[in-house]
Amino acid sequence: MNRLPVWIDGDPGVDDAAAIFVAHDREELQIVGISAVAGNAPLDITTKNALCLCDMMQADYPVYRGASGPLMRAYEDGADFHGADGMGGTNLPAPKRSAETQSAWDALYEEAKKHDGKLEVVAMGPLTNIALALSKYPDLKNLIHRIAIMGGSVTRGNRTPCAEYNIFADPDAAQIVFRSGVKVVMCPLEVTEQAYLTAQELEALRTTEKGEFYYQASKHILAKNLEAGHEGFCIHDVCPVLYLAREDIFKGEDAGVFVETQSNLTLGKTVCDLYSDKQFDVKNTFVALEIDREAFVEAVSRAMK
Ligand code: RIB
Ligand code: CA
Repeated sequence: MNRLPVWIDGDPGVDDAAAIFVAHDREELQIVGISAVAGNAPLDITTKNALCLCDMMQADYPVYRGASGPLMRAYEDGADFHGADGMGGTNLPAPKRSAETQSAWDALYEEAKKHDGKLEVVAMGPLTNIALALSKYPDLKNLIHRIAIMGGSVTRGNRTPCAEYNIFADPDAAQIVFRSGVKVVMCPLEVTEQAYLTAQELEALRTTEKGEFYYQASKHILAKNLEAGHEGFCIHDVCPVLYLAREDIFKGEDAGVFVETQSNLTLGKTVCDLYSDKQFDVKNTFVALEIDREAFVEAVSRAMK
């Protein structure tokens, strides 16, 4: 099987960790690089966590440091959700190796040139690194096949009533990505909220080292969700990875999507013309709206083996 070359950019982060495990496990995908961005935790921590996850997978994927904050706004982290260590308080030991010296955006461009327009990019944190790469290298847009993101929403928000965290954290970067001309696959909250594990499904992962780690990293997030009356906790970032590997388990529609970058009230809103009479001039995005949850659970469980 021809494996799709995939660059993974994120802010590990508990759900980012599961996404990286799933990408590593899929025979349809070949990880060619991992870049860290400030988001769920500061850059030093998300970079360390990316290296630690590679140690857990016994994988030597190159890991690159990216942006330590948004393009034009103050950085705010997600420690209240992912913990000060970005990994639910598991406080992983120091990684066996260091990050590469090249910046994330330069390394992404160098890698993209090797794949003749076929490189797939997964972005599952603030889009700062991707925006910087697209801005610094105008020809990069012709070298990337798709940018599959966890981010945005059609009708809701988890950082404000209308904005999802990854987009809200750097709306200017997100706008650059949506306007870039590269096909975007958007996995918004509408689909990622279907991608959840119940307490029983999380418990069932504990038979392996990765599964036990994931249980310890996720148990606080699970408890918060159960307290709020949810059936389980969402592993948002697995969705863009799984879309590239198993498009067949998703449903969605092409749409025009752009980002609010001016208004305080709606900052970071992904304005989507899916249900509007008035449509944008372009369908720049495939918006995933449904996922087969059974297939999702099976993919996560398999990746934890
Ligand atoms: O809104 C969910 C997103 O924000 C996920 O990518 C999670 O890791 C956080 O970055
Ligand atoms: Ca993330």
